[in-house]
Formats: sequence, C-alpha cells, structure tokens
Amino acid sequence: MSSNHLKYQKIAAFFSRVYSSRLNPLYHLGDFAIFLFAVASVTGIYIFLFYTINPAHAYDSVQQISANPFNGLMRSMHRYSSDLLVVFVILHLIHSLIIGKYKRLLSWISGVISFLVVVFIGVTGYILVWDQKAKLIGFLTAKFISAVPIFDPAIAGAFLLNNLDYVGGFFKVSLFGHIFFSVLTIIILWIHVLRIENPKIFPPRKLMIYGLLALCVVCVLLPVKSDARAESTFIPYDTTFDWYYFFGYYFMKVLPVWANWVLMLGSGLLLAIIPFMGKKKAVVKPQIDLDKCDACNLCSYDCPYGAIDMLVKNNEIKAILNPDNCVGCGICIASCKEHAITLPGYPVLETLPDAPKHTVAAFSCSYFPQVRMPEGVNAAHYKVPCIGSVNPKDLEKMITGHVCEGVLLMGCEECYFRLGKTWTLDRITHKRPPMLSKKVPLSKVRFITSVQPNVNAEIVAFAQELSNNTAANVHHDTAPLTVRDFLKPNHVIAVLLFTVFFGVLALFSATKLHFYPKNEQLLVLSFKYVSSPTVTTQLQTQEKHMQSPVPMVKSRSPIKLQIVGNSGKTLLVKEYSPRGLRKDIAIFVYEELKVAEPSVNIHITETEAAGKGMQLLNVPLSTKDGVIVTITDGQLKALANN
Ligand code: HEM
Ligand code: SF4
Ligand code: SF4
Repeated sequence: MSSNHLKYQKIAAFFSRVYSSRLNPLYHLGDFAIFLFAVASVTGIYIFLFYTINPAHAYDSVQQISANPFNGLMRSMHRYSSDLLVVFVILHLIHSLIIGKYKRLLSWISGVISFLVVVFIGVTGYILVWDQKAKLIGFLTAKFISAVPIFDPAIAGAFLLNNLDYVGGFFKVSLFGHIFFSVLTIIILWIHVLRIENPKIFPPRKLMIYGLLALCVVCVLLPVKSDARAESTFIPYDTTFDWYYFFGYYFMKVLPVWANWVLMLGSGLLLAIIPFMGKKKAVVKPQIDLDKCDACNLCSYDCPYGAIDMLVKNNEIKAILNPDNCVGCGICIASCKEHAITLPGYPVLETLPDAPKHTVAAFSCSYFPQVRMPEGVNAAHYKVPCIGSVNPKDLEKMITGHVCEGVLLMGCEECYFRLGKTWTLDRITHKRPPMLSKKVPLSKVRFITSVQPNVNAEIVAFAQELSNNTAANVHHDTAPLTVRDFLKPNHVIAVLLFTVFFGVLALFSATKLHFYPKNEQLLVLSFKYVSSPTVTTQLQTQEKHMQSPVPMVKSRSPIKLQIVGNSGKTLLVKEYSPRGLRKDIAIFVYEELKVAEPSVNIHITETEAAGKGMQLLNVPLSTKDGVIVTITDGQLKALANN
C-alpha cells in the first residue's frame, strides 16, 4: 500500500502547485466534507425559516424562497453544498481504500453509515420541494418498498395521483427524517473520528474561504430551480435528476425491482465487509521502559491514534501502550526526550562523538520513494517507519557532536500517519516539545517531501552547502529551516479551479432525465378494489345487545384483470387476491404497461362472484404523459392529463 500512497501524492501534487501542500484539497477530503456539511446545515436552517410545512403549500413557499435573491442564494448553496458533500465523501472513501486505511474498523463502518445517512438526508430533502421530481422519487421509493409483500402497492399509485390523504404522511416523515438524520450525522461523525487523536475536523481557514467563494460564484451563475409543481394525473416524464442523490434510483429505470433490492443489499454488504478483506499487516509495536519514563505526557499527546495512556502503575503515573490502537508509526519515539520508547527493528543511530563522520545524516520515511544516496555524497542513511519518529534530541547530538555536518529529513507530502510531518517540522522549528536546541542552526537541517521533482539533486546540493559552510561562523547563522515543499498558494487560481470543478459538478445536479421514454405509450392502473364477500359469519356473543346486525366478512372474491387492445390482442390477464394472511380486505392493484395499440379495453371480473366486476372501454393512449386508470366514486376511470 505504500506505493499507492505515493502514487496518490504524485497525482495530488499537481494541485499542491496551486493550493500549496498544506491547503491541497486532496489531503483534506474528510474535513472538507465536514465543512460542506456545516454549510448545508447553516443554509438549511436559514431557508427553513421561510418554508411552509404543508404539502399543499410547500411548493409555493420554495418558489418564493427562490424569488428573493438572498434567500435564493441560500437555497442554491444548500443544494450544491449537499451535492458536493456526496462527491467529497466518495473521494474520501476512495482515498481510504487506495491508501489501505480501510482496516480501521470503527472509522470505516461509521463512515459507510454516515454515507448512507447523507444520501437519505438528500433524498428526503428533495421530497420537501414537492415538485415533479419529489413525486417521481416518492413513487419510485414506494414501488421499491412495496416489492416486500407486507407493504401496500397502492402507495406508489398514490404518489402518481398526488393523493395527499395517502402521501401527506410520507411528506411529514420526510421532513422529520431530513432534520433528525442531519442531527444524527453529527453523532455518527463524532464516532467516526473518535479513535483519531487531533483529527482535522475543519479544513484550514484559507481552503474554506476558497470553497465558499467558489460556491457563491456557482450559485449565482447556476441558481437552483424546482421542477414543475407535482400535478396529479400524469406520470413524471420531464423531471430533472440529481445524480449524487438519485444514482440508486436510476437502476429502477433499467432493472426490475427485485434486482434493485439485490443491488442495494449486495453493495451495502460489500462495503461493510471490506475491512475484513485481505490480511492485516503485521505491526511492530513500541516498548516503553517504565523506569526511564518521567510521565511528561508528551508521547500520549503526540500519538496520532490515542495508543498511549497515562495510567497508574506501581503507585506511579506512567505511559502505558494500548497495543490494539497502535499502528507502529514510531512517532512516540521522537516525543520522548528520556529515550524511554524503542521500536524493535528501528535503525541504530550513530549519535556518539566517536562514531564515523558523515557530511549528511539522511532519514527517509518508509513511505518515501526508494532513494539511494548519490555517489560522491558522504552520507549515513537511516530508513525509519515515519519521519515523525526521528527524535530531535538525536539530531542535536549528531550535529553538535560533529557526527555529521547536517541532517536531511525525507518525508511524505501527506503524512501517512497524519501527524508525523507536522510534529517534525514543529519540533525542529521550536514550536513543539521536545524541541531541537536553538543552538543548532536551522541551515544544518533540511526537509524534503516525497513529490519534489529532483530529490537526488537536492541531496547533492545540500551536501555541497554543508561542506562549504563548515568553516563559516555558525553562531550567527539565523537562516530559517529550508523545507522543499509546495509552500505558497495562488489564491486566484485556487478559487478559479474550485469554481470550475464545482460548476461542472453542479451540472449533474439537475440533468434532464426522461424516466419513462417519451415515445412509448404508458398505461398505469392504480386502484383499490373491494370485491364481494364469499364467506361471512354471524358474530356470536352471550350478550344479545352486542350481536352485530351485519354479518362479518371472512373472505372476499379474487378478481381477474384483463386488458385487451383494440386489435383484439390480449395484453394482460392477471388474478389478484387480498394481500397478506387476511382474505377479507380490499385488493390493491398496481400495473404499468407499455402498449403499442391506440386504445385498450379494461375488464375486471370477480372470479367467485358471478356477474360482478367493472369495465372501461376504449381508453385512448398517447405518447405524451401516460394514462392513469383508477377507481373513483365506485367507477373505473381514466384520468385526463392536465
Ligand atoms: C459524511 C461523511 C464523512 C465525513 C464528513 C468524514 C470525515 C472524516 C474526517 C474529518 C476524518 C479525520 C481525518 C483526519 O484527521 O485526517 C475521517 C477519517 C476517516 N474516514 Fe471519514 N468521513 C466520512 C465518511 C467516510 C466514509 C464513507 C469512509 C469509508 C467507508 C470513511 C473512512 C475514513 C477512515 C478510514 C478514516 C481514518 C483515516 C486515518 O486514520 O487517517 N469516512 N473522516
Ligand atoms: S514521552 Fe517518554 S517520558 Fe514522557 S510520558 Fe512518554 S515515555 Fe514517559
Ligand atoms: S507507534 Fe505510533 S501508534 Fe503506536 S503508540 Fe507510538 S505513536 Fe502511537
């Protein structure tokens, strides 16, 4: 996986040239997702103030929000930040997968759950607009759910008919779900980063400013609009489709409902078992010599994975390793000025004055590309698990004891163990203990990151500088630390790049998608049919006054539905009985049929009640909005398109 980490950084380095290594968005995918979640939450609370919680008026209130320039901007920001949240979460997931961090069980599982919850929040958000798209999504959701036999298939039809008696409840559940799950996400995210010490919760301020500016520009250029109002009598043909939230629904267009269930459960299961796949890398863990430990607490602060606790041992507070959390990065070795922490296999450093002399003592991280010291450079080369494991007190000894003229540190642009690079630079530049002594001139230390174009030339140049400076008066050397990294962002290009990226992504937030092909004639039958009783019983009780005057229905007749084209061809023959265990309830029918004939005749006959049934003849079909046939006022009717 170390080579994947390096490849990732090589691609990311392209953006470091614009954003700098510190602000590179590809190194801030998780925290940028949190930032987007925060933007979506704040703008969501704002537009909620102007929203009407009633499906009959919700659409108009959203239209009014859009009509006001500032409120419209807030609405657009709410939508696009939510869309980008999905993109950044998926990128964050891919990043974790590529660099092999999927073994962090708690982070992975809570991450998968947060992703599903985010998608759920988005889908319920779209329902709140109550436009054609909301109708389509409600309809598809109901169709998907009603594949489970205990659910009523008529709910799908109720969405098509915009029957608020039925689907008004769904609207309220969506509103509640949208808000409740947003709050739940905060809790899940807290669990997500629970095991991570010093997690990057929010990205650096400048990166957030770039993001906000770009988002505003995109919102002004591509303001969010609703689809047409959710009307009752036509199939939602002309809807826009948000690929970030509705990707799962697309499969409802191309696959049967059962296949969608297999797909959903299968992909959920696959994501959940990823952490259990492949062998866990054997990790060498550090040992802590408790006699040397003076309980300074530094290793416990510095460990990026919370693997060291300060606990009472033999009446004294000591640093105790929790091996389950430890990933073997060795960063704690550098925290300990007492040298109480050692890692088996860690290179033995030549620090004593009588050690062989070198111009350069070079340290390279195990994730750094394989480097060889160039010919002609007199160097001792130590390979360490993470550059953050190099103890500044050892460097000090090497330089002041003239074991070497200077120290070269070669670490990743994005530290695999998250904090190794930051802690090292802070320790060397006297910002974090244990610090490099101020007596050591910083010109004697150099830091090179893994994606610098010509590492070999850098090493040669550094060795040359050291040789030239040996005779110089180092006491007056106040030069700052030289870090070969991408240090300066270009603000204008950074915002521009974000704007282009966000703008392109925004286009996929409202693509036109004809969920039903326009050139096909669609016939939809959606109704509830109460058939004649076939078995009844008289309720028997001791008390005469409690006896029901009406016989109790035990079962009702099944029905046969027959659809015949005007050419005489039978297009559908199907029998229906009451669903579930009870035989005394109404029968729900939901059918979608693509028909090539100009008109159809529909016959319903009760198979166990002679002469009972309904029919509707000469139902004309067109390629426009589809025809919905339902039962109203006890009669089979084709609804006219608005
Ligand atoms: C709403 C969705 C998510 C947000 C806001 C989010 C955010 C974060 C943040 C802020 C961190 C800490 C990063 C750091 O300090 O370096 C993190 C770590 C992590 N996330 Fe996520 N995450 C989300 C979803 C996911 C998903 C879907 C996965 C994968 C299935 C995932 C996998 C991980 C892993 C493995 C880590 C640990 C990384 C490490 O140890 O260096 N996250 N996440
Ligand atoms: S850094 Fe060293 S001395 Fe300090 S608590 Fe850890 S082991 Fe003990
Ligand atoms: S090796 Fe790394 S993970 Fe393990 S205790 Fe030390 S700092 Fe923590």
